Formats: sequence, structure tokens, C-alpha cells
Amino acid sequence: MQALILAGGKGTRLRPLTVYTPKPIVPVLNKPFLLYQIEILRRAGIKDITLSLSYQPNKIEEMLGDGSEYGVNLRFITEPSPMGTGGAYKFAADAIRETTVVFNGDILTDLNIAEVLQMHLAKKAEATITLVPVEDPSAYGLVETEPNGKVLRFREKPKPEELADLTTNTINAGIYVLEPSILDLIPKGENHSFEYNVFPDILANEKPFYAFIMQNNYWRDLGTPESYLQAHHDFLGGKIKNFEFEKPRNSEVSHTALVDKTSLIGADCIIKPNSRVINSVIGDGVHIEEKAIIENSVVWAHTRISSSAQIKNAIVGRSCFIGKNAIVNDGAVLGDKTSLTDYTKT
Ligand code: GDD
Ligand code: MG
Repeated sequence: MQALILAGGKGTRLRPLTVYTPKPIVPVLNKPFLLYQIEILRRAGIKDITLSLSYQPNKIEEMLGDGSEYGVNLRFITEPSPMGTGGAYKFAADAIRETTVVFNGDILTDLNIAEVLQMHLAKKAEATITLVPVEDPSAYGLVETEPNGKVLRFREKPKPEELADLTTNTINAGIYVLEPSILDLIPKGENHSFEYNVFPDILANEKPFYAFIMQNNYWRDLGTPESYLQAHHDFLGGKIKNFEFEKPRNSEVSHTALVDKTSLIGADCIIKPNSRVINSVIGDGVHIEEKAIIENSVVWAHTRISSSAQIKNAIVGRSCFIGKNAIVNDGAVLGDKTSLTDYTKT
């Protein structure tokens, strides 16, 4: 059993966070995001993992190495230009010899992939797609199924008029199990999409195509700043379990500073007197000066927050400088190296 993680998208909707950091390795609770996917693949016994890259591939390779640190074997395949989701799978064909779990590289979930594999084998499927119910399916790939799990229709990003007569709210969760025979449906060297081309072709060819519907799992696409921030709140609020985090090392927290129980502080931080960190995640090497307040926010590594600054419901990138008394609030997203003058309001 092997896996292919599609991690080549540009992460446009997550800009400016993805200008210097490709989406697959943005920090989530101070850990590169792909490590969560690698962890759930490893739990299902899948150690042979290929990463399909296109945007800033070197940064991803340097950060993850050969995978031995995480108990897996990582291989990297970089497209000369983005080939689309299906095209990326075809581009990796030389590395694909057996049943493969294909994973969109921006999905945070605690799904037990072994259960999906079991169903794939039991149904003798050539393709199995994981589905999740959502309130608003319009931003996703909507999938209709028969009661026995057979996939009936796949409609990527349905238009409002198409949504009106729908009987289901289950969408493509971005996790597939595919037999190598699916590669035969994809032309070589062309841009091709799982969602717009391959899945409709599987249906047209009447190949055995089944759906595994998630019931009580956590699932989130991290593709937008709102969703990225919400994932942190979900972790801090205990909605996602079974992932481990390093204890903070070498951080100096003043005894008059407050770091509440639902916050996570990285290594080598300095947190000065009378400052407050509430329900937030602070990256490595962050300095927080006197009386600054950070609430419901995510601050990336090596940022400096000056005295009496306030950061609320915001994301602050790496190596930023926030001046004294500056206010960064609701929904603000600051890219790496942003510098805010004293008293700035966003
Ligand atoms: N290697 C490679 N090459 N990877 C790519 C490419 C490419 O050309 N294009 C996209 N990807 C990767 C992205 O990095 C991402 O991890 C994944 O494929 C999906 O792309 P997104 O751009 O995030 O798609 P989406 O979120 O709009 O929609 C997809 O995910 C939804 C679930 O979150 C679709 O698969 C929907 O059907 C699905 O519901
Ligand atoms: Mg996405």
C-alpha cells in the first residue's frame, strides 16, 4: 500500500501566508501541516509516501527530508508546471505500482484510513472516494451515491441553480483509494483534473466506484485564512484529538504574564510582564513585550510584538514587527516580515 499527497497547489486563497511558505507546510499548532497527514497515513500502516509538488518544492523537501524522522519513506516528484490534480497523479505514474491512497494536501482530518481501505477491498472497487457531509457544498465537489455506497454523480463546485434540486450534502473529502488501472484513464503529459475529468470518466466507464462516508470524524480544508484560524481554535478547544505536540522549550514567561491553558507557546519565546496570551498559538522565538495582548490568534515564529499592542482574531506571519499600541484585529492576516508602526490599527 502506498500514498500520494497532492501538494502542488499555489495556495492562492491563503495568501499572503503562502508567499514564502507553501500551503502544505504552513505551521498548524507549530508543526508543518503535512506532518498531520503523514501521521494518519502511518497509523494505517502506509509508509511509502510520494509528495507531488509544484509550488516551492525545495522548501517542502528541505523541511521534511526523507521522512525517517517520522517513521515513513518520503519521495518527492515535482511537475515542471502544475498538471492539475489528475495530471499530477499521472505524472507520478512511475512511482505507482499498487493500490494508492491519494490525499489532497490541505485536508486536516483524524480519519482512520484503514477503514476506507477495508471498504475498498470489500467492494472490490477500482476507486473509492471519501465523503463528508457539510452545510454548504457549493465550494466543494458534490457527490451523490446509491444506498449501497456506489457513486452516482460527481459535480465539482456546483452552481447555485444546481444546488436547488439536490438530495444530498455529502462532498468530496479529498481522500481517494485508487487502483493503478485508473491511470489508464488519464492522458500523459496533459493538464487533467480528478474532479472535472477522471471521476466523470470512471462513472462513464462504469468502473466499480464507491464512497466511504465519514460519520464522526473531524474534517477541514485549510485553504482559506478563516479555515486555517478555525483549525487552531478546533485544536485548542479539544475538537481534534490524538495528535501530539512538543512541550515548549526554553521559553521565558514572566510570572506576571498570563498564558492561558488553551494556548500553545513555541520554543525560545520571551513573554514579558503583564502581557496576556489567550486561546492562541505562538510560534518559536516570538517576543511579546509588556502589556501586549494576544487573543484567539496565531503568531508565526520570530515575530516581535511591542508593548501594549493588541492582536485579536488575527494571523500574524513570520518575522513580523508589531509596533507599540498597534491594534491588529478581526480577521487580519499579516504576511511574513510585515512591519507595523506604533499605534497602527488594521
Ligand atoms: N501536484 C499538484 N499539481 N497538486 C495540485 C495541483 C497541481 O496542479 N492543483 C492542486 N493541487 C493540490 C493542492 O495543493 C491541494 O492540496 C489539492 O490538490 C486540492 O486542490 P485545492 O485547490 O485545494 O482544491 P479545492 O479545495 O478547491 O477542491 C478540492 O478539495 C475539496 C475538498 O477540500 C476538490 O478535490 C473538491 O472536490 C473537494 O471537495
Ligand atoms: Mg482545498
